[in-house]
Amino acid sequence: MPQPGQSHEKDPRWTAVDTYSFGHLHPSTRISPSQSALQHALDASQQAGLPDIAVSPSQGKYLQLTARLARSKNILEVGTLGGYSTIWLATSSPNVKVTSVEVDMHHANVARSNIQTAGLEDNVDVIEGPGMDVLPALAQQVRDGKRPKFDFVFIDADKENNWNYVDIALGMCEAGACVIVDNVVRKGQLAEETDDPRIAGAKRVVENVGRDERLDGVVLQTVGEKSYDGFLLAVVK
Ligand code: SAH
Ligand code: DHB
Ligand code: MG
Repeated sequence: MPQPGQSHEKDPRWTAVDTYSFGHLHPSTRISPSQSALQHALDASQQAGLPDIAVSPSQGKYLQLTARLARSKNILEVGTLGGYSTIWLATSSPNVKVTSVEVDMHHANVARSNIQTAGLEDNVDVIEGPGMDVLPALAQQVRDGKRPKFDFVFIDADKENNWNYVDIALGMCEAGACVIVDNVVRKGQLAEETDDPRIAGAKRVVENVGRDERLDGVVLQTVGEKSYDGFLLAVVK
């Protein structure tokens, strides 16, 4: 047994608590259409060979409830994968619009199919391309009055660009908008010296949010079936 404080590995209790909690809060005896669409998205993504790196069910539910609490109407997501987190966000309220950006054409196609199966094609637009090309173009459309401002942003793509995505998103967000960045804790490496560019990307976004007068943020560490990680949550002033 590793000593307390020494283990950065997955603890079976974390998965057990996720399974227990999600199972009781969303029992399979009253499974909703969106629950089966979410499960289908995971199964179809696995079938299509996508990596198993979507948010967990509890994390997805947390994103959905946060978007609902914020009364979000226009959501921007960077990093669609198979559309699992997208479906959680797109079911946060009846008329919500999600614009999700994905660089990998295969991932984008799998996501579109999963979103269609979920009956959410009118709520979701998957845009193919690198975030650093697509986000500036979206910001221009917002400035031109061709698209509404965003009130919720979920960043979960190439970690090196975390801060760049937040910075560009700020130019197209309403006051009070909620920004969430996934995977900033990375088994505690956020607080360690390292050369890993993905951890550098997590450090940069945390440090820059702290410096930026436009934002008020917090890092929430999480454990669960996806091991030890965490979200950065920031609110646009
Ligand atoms: N949000 C998803 C998981 C995203 S995994 C979920 O929880 O269900 C990260 C995704 O970001 C991958 O599909 C990857 O192809 C995509 N990605 C990587 N670099 C990117 C870039 N530069 N621009 C847009 N998407 C990118
Ligand atoms: C990875 C990416 C993610 O967005 C995530 O939530 C977990 C893992 C990865 O690239 O390994
Ligand atoms: Mg992630």
